[in-house]
Amino acid sequence: MLEKFAIVLAAGQGTRMKSKLYKVLHPICGQAMVEHVVDQLEALGVSEIVTVVGHGAEMVEEVLGDRVSYTLQEEQLGTAHAVMQARGALEGKEGTTLVICGDTPLLTDDTLQQLITYHESIHSKATVLTSIEPDPTGYGRIIRNEQGVLERIVEQKDAETTELAIKEVNTGTYCFDNKELFEALETIGNENAQGEFYLTDIIEVLKVKGKVVAGYAMPDAREGLGVNDRVALAKARKVMQERINHRLMVNGVTLVDPQTTYVDVKVEVGPDTVIEGNVSLLGTTKIGSDCLITSGSRISDSTIGDSVTVTQSVIEQATLDNGGDCGPFAHLRTNASLGENVHVGNFVEVKNATVGKDTKVGHLTYVGDADLGREINIGCGTIFVNYDGVNKHRSTVGDGAFIGCDTSIIAPVTIGKGAFTAAGSVITKDVPEKALAIARARQENKEKYANRLPHK
Ligand code: UD1
Ligand code: CA
Repeated sequence: MLEKFAIVLAAGQGTRMKSKLYKVLHPICGQAMVEHVVDQLEALGVSEIVTVVGHGAEMVEEVLGDRVSYTLQEEQLGTAHAVMQARGALEGKEGTTLVICGDTPLLTDDTLQQLITYHESIHSKATVLTSIEPDPTGYGRIIRNEQGVLERIVEQKDAETTELAIKEVNTGTYCFDNKELFEALETIGNENAQGEFYLTDIIEVLKVKGKVVAGYAMPDAREGLGVNDRVALAKARKVMQERINHRLMVNGVTLVDPQTTYVDVKVEVGPDTVIEGNVSLLGTTKIGSDCLITSGSRISDSTIGDSVTVTQSVIEQATLDNGGDCGPFAHLRTNASLGENVHVGNFVEVKNATVGKDTKVGHLTYVGDADLGREINIGCGTIFVNYDGVNKHRSTVGDGAFIGCDTSIIAPVTIGKGAFTAAGSVITKDVPEKALAIARARQENKEKYANRLPHK
């Protein structure tokens, strides 16, 4: 096998997206389209990936980092002109070069490998990856002669009526003999409906020179989807979602309703976990085995252990250890870290706090900027008052403490191990170990008070 190179075309604005965001940066299942493309190229073992950037160059470079090298296309004069920008990086090298668009996120490394294998097996100089589309609108059409041999590619805007009826289309992905590619590019002109330098014209250029060119039709046409507008974006997301969900299910995860389970590509879930419909698992979320995640939950960038139940809750950048549970309607926010078997009940918010093993925070509570030990009971309506309007302060509660209902804990304070707070207390000072803090007005009863009122 020859050395492999790749050129990713990502310089276009993507006008048809009608967006402030550059097209190739639109996310699908948790990452930009162009990241999906680069993932597949990396899986192929390409030795060099050159990305052609233009519109939004800085943002594309920020997203892809040093996974690829870059070349700037200052003016977007067409796909052939774009590929030409990689000349400095690749010209003269011996090998096979894949050209792929940043807006075809569904192509897999398997398909790309099939394309390369076919290309090399027939000693082709240019092989275009094609697909059969029931609705070919918008794509370049593949023109073959009676023997089925590839003749040329014609763009939608330049096609005649008979050509428009052709269902075999150009996916915008090609394999080239690297040296032939850069030689042939020199001779491509821009006499066409859009006045652009079309990469597709390279097929005719090479044919005239008597070189072997070919079209390779891929088995699953859906992979070739080029995302030019939001309608295609939604279609691509759906296909990607089906793939991700299929992978989870064959690995032992029960998805009660896969159609409405939204899982990002980097998410991991362990076997025997059950995920109900209308759940979103986003970003870098990891979920262990034997968990239950019920409808309406949205979990992003969080780590959840084994045997955890999440009931209709929102979890962001938080950690839940084995055997815990939260919800319904809990909100675990950034740096909430719950230990083993912690129970967080309804209408509880936890932020930037650690909660020790076996501690219970059952109802209507805010835990912010606090460190809670083990086996604590936090009564209903407790508030960790962490913010004085300027600064945030931290509080600590020791193991085995019992915090009465409706306690306000005005940070910074430390409540000792095994201490108690009386219900309704406003705690402003530290509470020693095993002490009971009562910080509320004593009750006073006004006898026969009602008799003093008129009409009573
Ligand atoms: C292109 C193909 C078409 C194919 C389709 C598949 C050409 C002339 N047409 O059309 O045959 O069916 O892809 O999806 O090649 N780009 C640049 N610089 C440019 C122009 C484009 O980097 O000057 C990039 C874009 O960012 C995009 C890709 O090339 O990622 C394709 O460009 P786009 O305008 O989407 O081409 P299509 O009209 O879809
Ligand atoms: Ca396109």
